[in-house]
Amino acid sequence: MNIAFTLNGTETVVDAKPDEKLIDVLRKNHIYSVKNGCGCGRCGSCTVLLDGKPVKSCLIPVGIIMNSKIQTLESFEKEDIYKDIVKGFKQAGVQLCGYCNSSKFFSVYDFIKKISRPTQEQLQEFIDDIFDACNCTERETLMTGVLYAAALKLEREGKKKNAAK
Ligand code: FES
Ligand code: FES
Repeated sequence: MNIAFTLNGTETVVDAKPDEKLIDVLRKNHIYSVKNGCGCGRCGSCTVLLDGKPVKSCLIPVGIIMNSKIQTLESFEKEDIYKDIVKGFKQAGVQLCGYCNSSKFFSVYDFIKKISRPTQEQLQEFIDDIFDACNCTERETLMTGVLYAAALKLEREGKKKNAAK
C-alpha cells in the first residue's frame, strides 16, 4: 500500500503494510536517529514528532500517518530550539551518549514549549517521566539543563520580538 506523508519537510510516499511499525519504515528510509531500543513504548529512543507532538514510533502503525507530518532529529537539529537545548545541556554539563537523543530532545522541546518557566515541581514530574530510560545522565544535572534550555529559549524569543518592534 502506498502511504503518503511529509517527512522532515519533504513529501514522501512509501510502499508499506499499514501495520508495519513507523520506526521500521523510517530506518528503511535512512532515518537512523530513531533507535530500536525496547520496541514496546518504554524507552523513548524511537521518538519522533507526529504533527508536532512527540510519539514513540515503535507504537505507531505506519497506516495511520497518511497525510501527516513526521519530523525526526535529522531536520530538528537545524532549528533554533534544538540549539537552545544543546546549549542548555552543555552549560549544565549534561552527558549524552546519543542513544536516547530522540527521546531527550523531543521531550524537552515539548515541555519547554508548553511551560516557559517551569516550577521545581513541574520539572521533577517531567524528569520522572523521561529519566527511567536513560543510563547516562544524572537527574539533577538534567533538571538544570532543562532550566537553562527554557531560559535560553525565552531570551532568544525576547530578542526576536524586540528586533521586530
Ligand atoms: S523503541 Fe520505542 S519506546 Fe523503546
Ligand atoms: S544519553 Fe545515553 S542512554 Fe540516554
